[in-house]
Amino acid sequence: MEQTENVVRACVVGDPVSHSRSPLIHGYWLDRLGIAGVYDRRRVTADEVEAFLQDVRVGKLRGGNVTVPHKEAVARHVDALTDTARHLGAVNTVWGVDGQVWGDNTDVTGFLANLDERCAGWDRTREKAIVLGAGGAARAIIYGLLTRGFQEIGIANRSLSRARQLADELQPEGAQKLLPIAWDARSDALKNANVLVNTTSLGMAGQPSLDISLETLPVQAVVHDIVYAPLETDLLRAARQRGNPAVDGLGMLLHQAAPGFARWFGQKPQVTDELRQLIIDDMNRTAA
Ligand code: ATR
Repeated sequence: MEQTENVVRACVVGDPVSHSRSPLIHGYWLDRLGIAGVYDRRRVTADEVEAFLQDVRVGKLRGGNVTVPHKEAVARHVDALTDTARHLGAVNTVWGVDGQVWGDNTDVTGFLANLDERCAGWDRTREKAIVLGAGGAARAIIYGLLTRGFQEIGIANRSLSRARQLADELQPEGAQKLLPIAWDARSDALKNANVLVNTTSLGMAGQPSLDISLETLPVQAVVHDIVYAPLETDLLRAARQRGNPAVDGLGMLLHQAAPGFARWFGQKPQVTDELRQLIIDDMNRTAA
């Protein structure tokens, strides 16, 4: 598209980036809100990250989203970070202000807003949460659970050393809220839990399934899978069948996009059922 001065531009950068559904999400909002903006995807290598940030600094771009593998590098190279992004050491959203590039991590608000929307009151009892996985997604989710005041958060991961490291890094000062759990103990650890979140890739289309027994999990506990392809994973199906509230991961993807849109294009977008269906249709098309 031709660049004109009135058109606000943003994009998603990553490597690879062709799979990103961010252009579909932001394109939907631009269209529905009647905003003359552009949001596209750019494949950016590690060497090109600085040039991308410079485009934001000088206003050629109003901002953008950052995806794998650049989230940590961008956190090191922006001019200013929100508290969340500083704690996580990872940035997924940038924007320019007066010649400076700001970075935020909206995976945290995306995770929380999705559960708030789809399972109101999910955090009413905050005694114990169990998180499966210890990667970048787990980091954002554990941080989100801490901000909501969960007293104990168990981190079960295949490599226990990674769970230990994450617990050490995010442990609030003077507290012992984060507990590493051996992968073999994941099913037993569900006893008395109020929330269970899968942040691993297990259960995703093309990946091995997540092998876990929900037998000891209280039936009131909320089960959330951040996997959204398929929408109903084996974990969520098993949870629903025994009466647990179950929330899929698509809403996290949609809600993490909203704060960036508001910063670049000046209007707060809505996560609607129509948008959700648009992404589901796209997933069905690309899987076909
Ligand atoms: P992300 O940034 O999306 O969280 P990641 O950092 O690659 O991605 O983390 C993937 C998570 O899935 C990790 O917790 C990983 O466990 P390890 O830390 O032991 O690698 C987990 N995972 C991936 N494949 C797995 C498998 N076959 N069995 C158990 N856990 C697995």
